[in-house]
Amino acid sequence: MKKAASQSISVELTVGEVARRSGVAISTLHYYESEGLISSWRNSGNQRRYAREVLRRIAIIKVAQRSGIPLASIRKALEALPDRRTPTTDDWRRLSAEWKAELNQRIMHLTQLRDQLDSCIGCGCLSLGSCPLRNPWDELSKLGPGPRLLLLEGEDQDLSQP
Ligand code: FES
Repeated sequence: MKKAASQSISVELTVGEVARRSGVAISTLHYYESEGLISSWRNSGNQRRYAREVLRRIAIIKVAQRSGIPLASIRKALEALPDRRTPTTDDWRRLSAEWKAELNQRIMHLTQLRDQLDSCIGCGCLSLGSCPLRNPWDELSKLGPGPRLLLLEGEDQDLSQP
């Protein structure tokens, strides 16, 4: 009888137990829940209860956050798991590899921005034509100077006719 009681304690956790065992504040747990990252149910006394697996889920959320992965990406990854299960070891291997690739891309983008900022330091022109940060994807500039869209529209019309 006593063994059954201790088993139910280890399967269902209160919000305080989850906070203590995960090292995450109760307010953060509520936030995670409101964001759909973790879930709980209410017992007959209307108190939140969590499955023990929530601790692993929180550990993954914290590691991902510490690595700079946005909560939206974390939620998407967790939602994509079959039956929204808690990530297994294989799931974690795959997720961490995906997130590493995402981080590498962001590092590359930030490095590019940092290098472009070098040309702005001491300049201050903020020119649409020459500042790489002011107008970074100015594809139309390859077609020449001026209001390219208006000029292109004009090329479609026969301007020699009244
Ligand atoms: S401010 Fe002049 S190049 Fe960016």
